[in-house]
Formats: sequence, C-alpha cells, structure tokens
Amino acid sequence: MMYRLLFTWVLRRLDAETVHHRTVRALALLARLPLLKRLLHRVLAPHDPILRVSAFGVHFPGPLGLAAGFDKDAACAEGIAALGFSHVEVGTITAHAQPGNPRPRLFRLVPERAVVNRMGFNNAGATAAARRLRRTRGVPVVVGVNIGKTKVVPESEAAADYVASARKLAPLADYLVVNVSSPNTPGLRDLQAVSLLRPLLTAVKEVADGTPRRTPLLVKIAPDLADEDVDAVAALALELGLDGIIATNTTIKHSGETGGLSGRPLKARSLEVLRRLRAKVGDRIVLVSVGGVENVDDVWERLLAGATLVQGYTGWIYGGPLWAARIHRQLARRARRHRVSTITDIIGRTA
Ligand SMILES: Cc1cc2nc3c(=O)[nH]c(=O)nc-3n(C[C@H](O)[C@H](O)[C@H](O)COP(=O)(O)O)c2cc1C
Repeated sequence: MMYRLLFTWVLRRLDAETVHHRTVRALALLARLPLLKRLLHRVLAPHDPILRVSAFGVHFPGPLGLAAGFDKDAACAEGIAALGFSHVEVGTITAHAQPGNPRPRLFRLVPERAVVNRMGFNNAGATAAARRLRRTRGVPVVVGVNIGKTKVVPESEAAADYVASARKLAPLADYLVVNVSSPNTPGLRDLQAVSLLRPLLTAVKEVADGTPRRTPLLVKIAPDLADEDVDAVAALALELGLDGIIATNTTIKHSGETGGLSGRPLKARSLEVLRRLRAKVGDRIVLVSVGGVENVDDVWERLLAGATLVQGYTGWIYGGPLWAARIHRQLARRARRHRVSTITDIIGRTA
C-alpha cells in the first residue's frame, strides 16, 4: 500500500533509470552498514527450512532470486539479499567496460505491468566487477555472475571475449551464466545457434571446470527462440554437461520503444519455454525460470512446472522493496497447507 502510493505519486514521475541508479546506490550503502544489513537480513531473508533448495551443489535459502540486469556491476548484492532474495545474479558483465546505449533506454509500461529496456550491457567491465566480488560478505548471499559479449568485439572473437570474463569471474561466482539472449547487443542472440553455441560453451566450461570449486555453468536463453531451437539448446546443454538453463530473457516481440520487453506480457511464453525444457531435460539439469513472475502463484506454478529456482526483476519494480520477502513468506505458508515437507517436493509435479 505504502509502496503503491510512493510509486504512483513519486517514482513513476521520475526517469526510470534515475530511480534505478538511486536504488542501487541506496542498496550499496546498506551493504556497508553491517548492523542494519544484518537486522534486515534476519527479518526479511528466507530462514524457513521448508523453503531451502539445493541446485548444482549450491544451497539456496529459498527459490526466488533477483534476475540479472539490476546489479550490473556487482555493487549491492548484500543489500539485495537483505531484502529477502535468496540469490542475486549480477551482470551482465562484459570483459571490457562499456557505456551501453544512449539514454533514454529504460521505459515503464505501467498499465501492462511491464518494462522495455535497451540498456546495452552498460557496465564497468570484468576487472572492476571482480574487485567488488572479492570483498568479504557480511551476510550470506548466493551470487551468480552473468557474462556477455563486449559490444565492439566481432562475433568471430566472441568465445575469447567470454573466456576473458570467465577467467576473472568464475572463481568468484557461486554459479556462472553465459548470456546469449539479450536483444540489445547486435548479433548476440545469433550465438544461440548450436553451431556457434557449442564452441562458445565448451570454451567457457573449460574455465568454469578449472576453478578450485568447479563453478556451475548455465546458459540463459531468449523467449523468442523457435520451439525447435529451444529443444536444440536443451540437447546441447545435456551433451556438454551444463548445470542448468535460465529461461527466459526479455522479448523483442512487441510494438513500441525498441528494446526487450519484460514483466506480465512475458509470463505465458516464459512458462511455455520452461515446460518445453522440462519435457526435454527432465530433472537431469537445473531449470531456472524467469519472465513475468509477479506473485506467489507464479512462483508456485513455475516450481510445479519443473523450475528449481525462480527469478524476477520487473515484478519487484511494481511490487516494491519487500516483494521477495513477501513471496517467500507466502510460499512457506502454502507449502505447509499442501503438507509438503520441503518445497523441493513440488518441483516438476505437473511436468
Ligand atoms: C532493465 C533491465 C535490464 C536487464 N538487463 C539484463 C542483463 O544485463 N542481462 C540479462 O541476462 N538479463 C537482463 N534483463 C532481463 C532479466 O534478467 C529477465 O530475464 C527479464 O526481465 C524477464 O524477467 P522479468 O519479467 O521478471 O523482468 C534485464 C531486464 C530489465 C528489465
């Protein structure tokens, strides 16, 4: 209620990217205030054992995490965790720093509960992100690192560019994600073609496998892939022994501002891709579902459809700072109502 008023009367009247940067700064500040951070973490983070999920050897205190694109520079993961997310996927980080596309590049579609962005991987680069990730953490937080291609690097050198990021970041990540699905870097999504994806993932996997703890490796795909291409990526992930697939990124199938659409309009396709993937891979690799998740019903549905982890971004923008904490609380209550002893019991039940 409070957030709805704040959003309606203040936030939506301000430029969306300005609000974003101020929020990141506030959360980075929170991350530097140990007492407040720990207090919030104690109150808001998922602590109920019924919510615990384990995926690719990593323990998550709950299934709902923050999707990539908010904490692009790994500046405030602890602040985000203190608000109740079970994990934070930082990035997309590129090997070289880059400014991204010209502003404005982030647009709210309030009636649709959606956002269009064409940020273009604005970030300070892998070296700066590695420096931040090396800082010790005051609260426990699972941090995934999402890497992408530097814009000026040609497709023929894409694998080397991803490998450069992976070398710096894989040792510092709880899991690593190869992002080949953002619509705002020209040619990036072409890398989803199996002929290009196989050598790329093979090269990055060699780096991820070589870290002291062997870093789990996932690939993030677009909702706009044809169904056969979704199947082909799933088969490739199995063949290469990847740890998981994250589905989906934003869609370009919409009218209006150029860029990727996220939020409620993405919900149906994101769920459809999840179901398709589950039918193909079963429980052999971890599926992370993202796209249009707004409430506890959506999270429950994704788990039933076979996701082990669920992520959201746009739902948080409209749902307010306590969004993840609220959903985790409701999820625990629902699990008890359904008499399951752990949330993992429902994963894939309707698949
Ligand atoms: C402003 C914005 C920036 C994003 N940047 C990235 C990014 O850098 N890398 C990435 O893999 N996904 C990025 N995404 C996509 C989200 O991680 C997510 O896949 C997508 O928004 C669908 O989830 P949602 O409907 O919950 O927002 C971005 C999304 C938004 C709204």
